[in-house]
Amino acid sequence: MTISRRTFLAAAGATAGAGLLSACGSGTKATTGLNGAATSLQVFSWWTAGGELQALDALKANFNLHNPNIQFVNEAVAGGAGTNAKALLAKRLAAGQPPDTFQAQAGEMVGDYITAGQLEDVTFLYQQNGWDKTFNQDVLKLIQRNGRYYSVPVDIHHINVLWSNRRLCDKLSIPTGPKTIPEFIDALGKAHDAGHIPLAISRDPSESWQLQHVMEAMLIGTLGAAGWSALWHPGADWSSAKVTQALDYFHQVMQHAPGTGGNMSWDQVSAQVAKGQAAYQIMGDWTEASFTVTFNLQPHIDYDWAPSPGTAGIFDFASDCFTLPKGAKHRDATIAWLTECGSQEGQDSFTTVKGAIPPRAHVGTQERTLFDTYLQWSLDEWTKDTIVGSLTHGVMAPGAWNNDILTAIGGYLTDPDTGKLQSALVQAATKHFSAV
Ligand code: GAL
Repeated sequence: MTISRRTFLAAAGATAGAGLLSACGSGTKATTGLNGAATSLQVFSWWTAGGELQALDALKANFNLHNPNIQFVNEAVAGGAGTNAKALLAKRLAAGQPPDTFQAQAGEMVGDYITAGQLEDVTFLYQQNGWDKTFNQDVLKLIQRNGRYYSVPVDIHHINVLWSNRRLCDKLSIPTGPKTIPEFIDALGKAHDAGHIPLAISRDPSESWQLQHVMEAMLIGTLGAAGWSALWHPGADWSSAKVTQALDYFHQVMQHAPGTGGNMSWDQVSAQVAKGQAAYQIMGDWTEASFTVTFNLQPHIDYDWAPSPGTAGIFDFASDCFTLPKGAKHRDATIAWLTECGSQEGQDSFTTVKGAIPPRAHVGTQERTLFDTYLQWSLDEWTKDTIVGSLTHGVMAPGAWNNDILTAIGGYLTDPDTGKLQSALVQAATKHFSAV
């Protein structure tokens, strides 16, 4: 029997109340080094929306079971994909006032903080806990620098997912999983003709990462895994005809994405799909948490999912990590937090609610039953697909390049000319490669 997220949370809470969930269970170790003294831990993230908050709460609850003397101080800053959080964090780090731990993302994003010398080396935790053997090797490669680790991953998110309102798609006779981008554009047109929002998105400049996410899906769907990955290495050809084709698809899709509702966060956008106002959304799988946790929808009945068009067999991923910043005031508490984040119990408590899968190499048969229908699909795809990294969620481009790409997309919002967009993307890549 599959245990739902809700049941899992309720069971964890009840067990904790009865004092049965021991600190030795399922791989989480009790905190040492705090001598039982009360202390606090500032946790900085951007998890405030949809199921993000509930997932953070689930991780916090599990953490406090093992560390009752550490007061969890939630310093989350609202704004999907960390748009506001990253800017505020940069100011705090520059002023020498880091939180005790902050959310980063595997790949180039965490690399920026390592290069800036802002993170402590936490390789000792990998050695103590055997994580260098139990974590997924692809993720490990992305978070190490010269064989040393500076962060601890807590999840794997699936980025190239097309979400749909199943009932609406059935009513309109449009597919929930169009295989190709032209087939998708055709379905968007039908949803438009029937008076629905075809693709839900916010077109507000403050939410331009939502467009970047869709553009990323169109590029992967057109260039394939190898073509996409090549865009991030020297010799990349951003002026190619294939990129032109992908941007043209992006434009056609955006013509069916009116952005009704203005400055909407990703979960407000998901709500349009959940309520049947819109047919589709292209978004990471934190959206699933919104459907299930916020709206209590049923998979394959109320909502559905598929690889975004043209990306079957490809898993575009991102991985959230936590860090030990240099100068953290409650260093021992941070180490206890990172130990929690790396543990099987901590990762399961978090990912089952967040709409993500654990970043470990193996998920056992019993553990698998904690994950819902969608997440079991994602677990399967993760093991059999070709893995590529996300631009929008930190893996492929350092912050400076990513910001230039976001500026290019901001330009497209004002003047939807794909020729200008492509030139700006070429310039951003040239600037990056000439600086490294
Ligand atoms: C991503 C992050 C996810 C989710 C999402 C929306 O960048 O990896 O954990 O929070 O942003 O805010």
